[in-house]
Amino acid sequence: MAQPIQLGGHPNTFASTTRNDTWWIGPLATAAGLILFFGYLTVRAMQATYVWFDPYISPAVAPSVFTPAAGYPGSVPVEHAWFGAFPAWWPSFLPQSPAFFLPGLAIAFRATCYYYRKAYYRAFASSPPGCAVRGHARSYGGETRVLLFQNLHRYTLYGALLLLVCLWYEGLGAFFKHGQFGIGVGTVVMLINATLLSGYTFGCHSWRHLIAGRKDCFTCDGKASVRYGTFQASSWFNGRHMLFAWLSLFWVAFTDLYIQLVSRGVITDLNTWS
Ligand code: FES
Repeated sequence: MAQPIQLGGHPNTFASTTRNDTWWIGPLATAAGLILFFGYLTVRAMQATYVWFDPYISPAVAPSVFTPAAGYPGSVPVEHAWFGAFPAWWPSFLPQSPAFFLPGLAIAFRATCYYYRKAYYRAFASSPPGCAVRGHARSYGGETRVLLFQNLHRYTLYGALLLLVCLWYEGLGAFFKHGQFGIGVGTVVMLINATLLSGYTFGCHSWRHLIAGRKDCFTCDGKASVRYGTFQASSWFNGRHMLFAWLSLFWVAFTDLYIQLVSRGVITDLNTWS
């Protein structure tokens, strides 16, 4: 019987491996999670319906630069959008979704994230392979050629920071309904969302590099202790980047689902206003 070709000491036939543990559970669970959460949020962002329940706004469409004037039940009110209703020049074949603007920055940030790269390379492309799993190392040429766009991650960080400010603004704004201070379950849900997204963003490798990682010396000027402190804080989040990546992704979807359900009248929001 023909022996499988060996590359780097590993079997190279389809799905072959020298590992006899359940190594495939991680990539399978990752693939399922990515498809489920990104799929759900993409559908919701394009629907742009039931994304508003005063004073709550779904992170799938927040902040809204434009909003549909009509035809989208539960959409963001025109007075809450930065520039009101979608302009007449907006292509009719595209849904009138606020997600085409600032919320879209989150997609660019996550898609190029160092953790998510590893996750979706292993989940969908097996490249680079997990240690001792198959022998496709030769097919992985690093992040060159078409994958070179991943280097844009350092720039998507600025968009993510802007988005974070907006989501905190919306979260804190959810304490006020028609100018009246109060609190509801939706307020808490939105604030947890902003908190988890902060944990994810401030653990970003590009952020860590930007605030201090690019420096060769932490004691060479008067800003040393502040810089070192922020670097240490970022390092704490960085060490838990995968955890915050998943928690924040789950909570973004949950926040949208919660607001959708109260907006549809399926569940009742407990709050101090009603
Ligand atoms: S490395 Fe993951 S968000 Fe920057």
